[in-house]
Amino acid sequence: MSSIAIRTEDLTRDFPTVRAVDSLSLEIPTGIIFGFLGPNGAGKTTTIRLLLGLLEPDNGRGEVLGFDVQTEADRIRERVGALLENDGLYERLTAYDNLDFFGEINHLPTPDRRDRIRHLMEHLDLWDRRSEQAGKFSRGMKKKLALARALLHQPTLLFLDEPTTGLDALSAVALRDDLTSLVHQEGVTVFLTTHNMAEAEKICDRVGVIHKGQLVVEGRPDEIGAQARQPIVKVIGSGFTPEILAEVGEVPQVVEVIRSEDGLTIRLKEQGETAELVHLLVSRGAQVEEVHKVGASLEEAFITLMGEQSE
Ligand SMILES: Nc1ncnc2c1ncn2[C@@H]1O[C@H](COP(=O)(O)OP(=O)(O)OP(=O)(O)O)[C@@H](O)[C@H]1O
Ligand SMILES: [Mg+2]
Repeated sequence: MSSIAIRTEDLTRDFPTVRAVDSLSLEIPTGIIFGFLGPNGAGKTTTIRLLLGLLEPDNGRGEVLGFDVQTEADRIRERVGALLENDGLYERLTAYDNLDFFGEINHLPTPDRRDRIRHLMEHLDLWDRRSEQAGKFSRGMKKKLALARALLHQPTLLFLDEPTTGLDALSAVALRDDLTSLVHQEGVTVFLTTHNMAEAEKICDRVGVIHKGQLVVEGRPDEIGAQARQPIVKVIGSGFTPEILAEVGEVPQVVEVIRSEDGLTIRLKEQGETAELVHLLVSRGAQVEEVHKVGASLEEAFITLMGEQSE
């Protein structure tokens, strides 16, 4: 098998009012946990649906485990497990029968199937509730059941759409541990989506950030985290001439200066101070009305980082 689990080139998907995925080019090696991060509506779920062949791209192409997403989707779906937003459980069937049925249509031989179902259900704390209808399960329990189903046929690649949303803290930690050991022991590749940068930093080997359908940044989470942690100073005011901008850009603690509609956005190095900057601006004749420093929390800094991509 190739060492690339997922490859896309200019993958694009339009809906009537929005370009949900916009020229996405990605290359994800096998055997890693890849985190796909982005705010609501960024295009994460649409990307997964394109990769599973559940949606047709309008442009570009994609390959999963070496198979083309448009012409070989059946072969992809045989080999991957997926936990999607819609859990796809049969509400009237018992928890056990949901798994049994899925195992049967995936041609898992009966004795193996029973063992595997029991193993997964015990592990996920669902075994005692196996005879209850899936429709009567709590949200978190349904999620775990859908996860068991995704793992049942021992796929080599797992797509998980927000796997920890709706899980209690203990279950979320347990799930993260499970994923890590799956990857390390069985060489499974995981493609997961999340809104949660802190979670991504903990478990992902690489992350991609998507915003309005476009890949904003891709890399190791510590690298991206460091970038997101850089404080951002928003200066509202007027009189920011090109000369002043150039001078601010020369200040050693400044990484980047961007002109915005009502002022400036300045990205600083990790420990950068603002007082000196404000002094410089004022002394060169700019009118400074307000100064905001963002970036106290990683989350905040991250949102700012993404917001700037759309300005
Ligand atoms: N079937 C559809 N018909 C029309 N528009 C759609 C459809 N599916 C998705 N979209 C639009 O595509 C964009 C991306 O949606 P998508 O579900 O991929 O986002 P997401 O990143 O998964 O968001 P969330 O974090 O909220 O799950 C959104 O603007 C959404 O409204
Ligand atoms: Mg989604």
